[in-house]
Amino acid sequence: MYKNLIVLAISFCSCFNTVFADSFSKLRVYQADNPQTIIYETSDNADIAAVLNGVSIRFEQWEATQVLSEQAQQQEVIAAYQADVDQLVQENGYTYIDVARMAPNSPKKAELRQKFLREHYHTEDEVRFFVEGFGLFYLHINDNVYIVRCEAGDLISIPANYRHWFDMSQAPYFTAIRFFLNKDGWIGHFTGSDIAASFIQD
Ligand SMILES: [Fe+2]
Repeated sequence: MYKNLIVLAISFCSCFNTVFADSFSKLRVYQADNPQTIIYETSDNADIAAVLNGVSIRFEQWEATQVLSEQAQQQEVIAAYQADVDQLVQENGYTYIDVARMAPNSPKKAELRQKFLREHYHTEDEVRFFVEGFGLFYLHINDNVYIVRCEAGDLISIPANYRHWFDMSQAPYFTAIRFFLNKDGWIGHFTGSDIAASFIQD
């Protein structure tokens, strides 16, 4: 039923850096022209969801407790969460599912980090179910930048045409199931803006 594309990296270790100092889902909001001043911050999941819902972003906590082996390929990851995948497909008609998996020692980590750090948008919603680790979405909405730290269990859906970038950190550690309507999967349109550089600290 699903066409599967990528497993980015496999070998894991327990050490990784974080932009936020802890390991909870978190939201920070800034003015887009002032990356030095936090104007709102919360680590309360209900508050995160409420604020993001206010700008039409879906953010929910699902259960992500399946143990995945270091060698797990994407078919195994999808199979471990088949019921959740099926539910989302039934809800929204996704036709293409893949898995992005990164480890801190991935030889491609610097290259891939830079790719997703550039501001871009998609012509369909960006839908991710994090089942391991964490990643940071930076959402440039009107005059604000919302930084969302997604943890295992978080489901996020960013509407089409929202400008954003994604930071997997210098020592990436995450597994995310990705859902697409387009059979070609991830297609990003880069804006050419350098705004991301003013928010990324390392
Ligand atoms: Fe994206």
